[in-house]
Amino acid sequence: MNDWSPAVEELRTARLALRRPVQGDVEAIFEIHRDPRTCAHNPSDALAWSQDAQDLYLRWNNQWQQYGYGYWVVRYHDSDQQLGFCGIKPMELHGMKVLNLFYRFAASAWGQGFAGEAATEVTAWASRHLPDLPLIARVRPANVASQRVAIRAGLARAEHLDATGSDGLDWIYTAKPLAARVS
Ligand SMILES: CC(C)(COP(=O)(O)OP(=O)(O)OC[C@H]1O[C@@H](n2cnc3c(N)ncnc32)[C@H](O)[C@@H]1OP(=O)(O)O)[C@@H](O)C(=O)NCCC(=O)NCCS
Repeated sequence: MNDWSPAVEELRTARLALRRPVQGDVEAIFEIHRDPRTCAHNPSDALAWSQDAQDLYLRWNNQWQQYGYGYWVVRYHDSDQQLGFCGIKPMELHGMKVLNLFYRFAASAWGQGFAGEAATEVTAWASRHLPDLPLIARVRPANVASQRVAIRAGLARAEHLDATGSDGLDWIYTAKPLAARVS
């Protein structure tokens, strides 16, 4: 872990507990990412094989080891059932170092405010612990649910930063106003 990295692995909201993923979450990672509904707008994220889920878990875990933060597994308080995943990943956007806000929930858990609740907590955590890294969300233009979650978490549309991602055009949302792209 880097010296400056926070070592906070557990977050709680009114209804939810967020914890660092463990090996035992691989099956849930697979089940959620193999459902065509959860990757309808981001087909490049879909997983076809259980080994893909194992590899994805290892990438998530590597990021936790390297940075001290990453994607959290979201559950009800005192429940082992994984509702979904929400977290942050460092990346570059137009030459700027940023944190990308991610959320993906089991279809059975949609429509109950879980993603908004988790994303709000993660956004607040990033603002407290990593204030120098701008927080963004990349959302496909037709993914209205994801756009609503970004707005619920306090982000705002930043058209001037829109970018092409793995699945086509991404609309960019930012937690704070960000200057125009570098290039
Ligand atoms: C996007 C996703 C995480 C939303 O999860 P959720 O738990 O159902 O979201 P919430 O219940 O917290 O709803 C948050 C907001 O989105 C709105 N919303 C949820 N589903 C919606 C839908 N299908 N269409 C329009 N709005 C929707 C809610 O009404 C709420 O709006 P509000 O803040 O104005 O009240 C979920 O649909 C999902 O996992 N999708 C697949 C993965 C994905 O697309 N991730 C984003 C990649 S960028």
